Amino acid sequence: MTTDLLLRYFHFLGIFAMFALLTVQHMQLKGQVEAGGMRKIAVMDAVYGGSALIVLLCGLGMWFWVGKPAGFYSQNWVFHTKITLFVLVGILSFMPTRFILKNRRNTTAVSVPKSITMMIRVELLLMCIIPLLAVLMANGVGYIN
Ligand code: HEM
Repeated sequence: MTTDLLLRYFHFLGIFAMFALLTVQHMQLKGQVEAGGMRKIAVMDAVYGGSALIVLLCGLGMWFWVGKPAGFYSQNWVFHTKITLFVLVGILSFMPTRFILKNRRNTTAVSVPKSITMMIRVELLLMCIIPLLAVLMANGVGYIN
């Protein structure tokens, strides 16, 4: 029971951290980033990656280890849609991360391509849809016998 609660708690904490960091990244990674600003964004991006890992590990723990039987989730198409969107968020974050890492040591201002800002926007949109799918699947919507 305690493990179940802890995994739930850290699943949520990770989600809140992901939202917060992605929102700040969206505000900072547009137009021109001043000299030295990229280094701070790189640190934020690394913490964002760490938060996503916590969300993933706690999610997997609730799926295969504690709580309801694994079949409750494995046989639910809404759950699989949720996982797919999470994977998409991961794929979309690849380009911004590569851009940040490439420019993190720049000593001059860096201009951010519009495509990078757009990718972060789509990530945020997907992150808003995932909790709806989570609430639905947790209540058995989408379960296939
Ligand atoms: C691969 C990644 C993920 C896995 C494996 C996973 C798995 C799970 C599992 C097994 C539960 C427990 C559901 C229950 O109470 O029966 C859960 C709950 C939840 N997850 Fe995730 N999750 C993942 C990612 C995410 C993400 C990225 C978000 C949000 C952006 C999210 C939002 C939620 C919410 C809001 C709940 C609580 C649902 C409720 O109790 O009503 N999950 N997740």
